[in-house]
Amino acid sequence: MKPAHGCITMVDELGSIPEPPKEVIIRVKRYDPEKNRVWWQEYRVPTYRGMTVLDALLWIKEHLDPTLSMRYSCRMGVCGSCGMLINGVPRLACQTQLGAIATPENPVVTVEPLPNFPVVRDLITDFSSFFEKHKSIMPYIIRRNPKEVDEAPREFLMSPEEHEMIYQYTLCIMCGLCYAACPVAASDPEYLGPQALTQAYRFIVDVRDEGADKRIAVVDTEHGCHRCHFAASCSAVCPKDVDPAAAIQRLRRIVFLRRLGLWRKKRGSPVAGPLEKPLRQVKAEYPKHNILPGVDPEQQAREPVDIDFRDEWLKQ
Ligand code: SF4
Ligand code: SF4
Ligand code: FES
Repeated sequence: MKPAHGCITMVDELGSIPEPPKEVIIRVKRYDPEKNRVWWQEYRVPTYRGMTVLDALLWIKEHLDPTLSMRYSCRMGVCGSCGMLINGVPRLACQTQLGAIATPENPVVTVEPLPNFPVVRDLITDFSSFFEKHKSIMPYIIRRNPKEVDEAPREFLMSPEEHEMIYQYTLCIMCGLCYAACPVAASDPEYLGPQALTQAYRFIVDVRDEGADKRIAVVDTEHGCHRCHFAASCSAVCPKDVDPAAAIQRLRRIVFLRRLGLWRKKRGSPVAGPLEKPLRQVKAEYPKHNILPGVDPEQQAREPVDIDFRDEWLKQ
């Protein structure tokens, strides 16, 4: 499988990530807002194969320094909350293996908060303005008649080919790595940025949507899509291969053609008609190879599940 952009910098000849050095030095840029103090702190961390930067930070927190602060949730590259500047590159800490970035000759890994975001404490940054920019492009289906959304009896139609046009952009996990890598965002805090502009494009070309004019009014501005230099640093670091730089170029083309009167959004796709036949209930087959001997899955499915997870946790 091709590694996602921005996650991995070293692979061996077989394409797998090498084993990390036995011990790494994690060098963290820290910030204490109470004392308004910034400093670098180093921690020695024993490693294991597959250990990620997030694993190392959590090991530090548990064994060396409980005051070290970072944000994370899923630990599997889905929630988008563990973005950090690792060895100078914006990456997800949970997807960056130490073996990919540290060697026995150079076992030092530097970890800093994401640039272009205000720092709250240590590695935690404030995403409020980033989320506001995302909200400003109205990231939801808009219809001329809002009742069509609120009261639609069924879904709006979209063919697989039409879905393919936006699929790549729907993979964004709002991790902010693209924004952290963007030189324009560094110099213009008002710049909408690669994430919001990509989502504007995603909704503008969505065949179910009729809000293109409203969104173009937001992006065709001083701090909108025209500020992009197309350096593509955003696409290089995106862990989901969303390719914001390409989306912004396509968005600019739409904005330009529309100014010339050569682009107009078609009417949104219709709501699916009533079902010709009522939905049929299909009996699902249980995968046989997964069932433990003596277990009747149908019986289990009928029995109410009543587990108090708090008790389970307390027993551990
Ligand atoms: S476009 Fe990529 S890098 Fe940017 S927020 Fe979305 S997932 Fe993260
Ligand atoms: S391509 Fe545009 S949005 Fe992406 S990093 Fe460059 S200037 Fe920023
Ligand atoms: S912890 Fe969720 S993306 Fe890293």
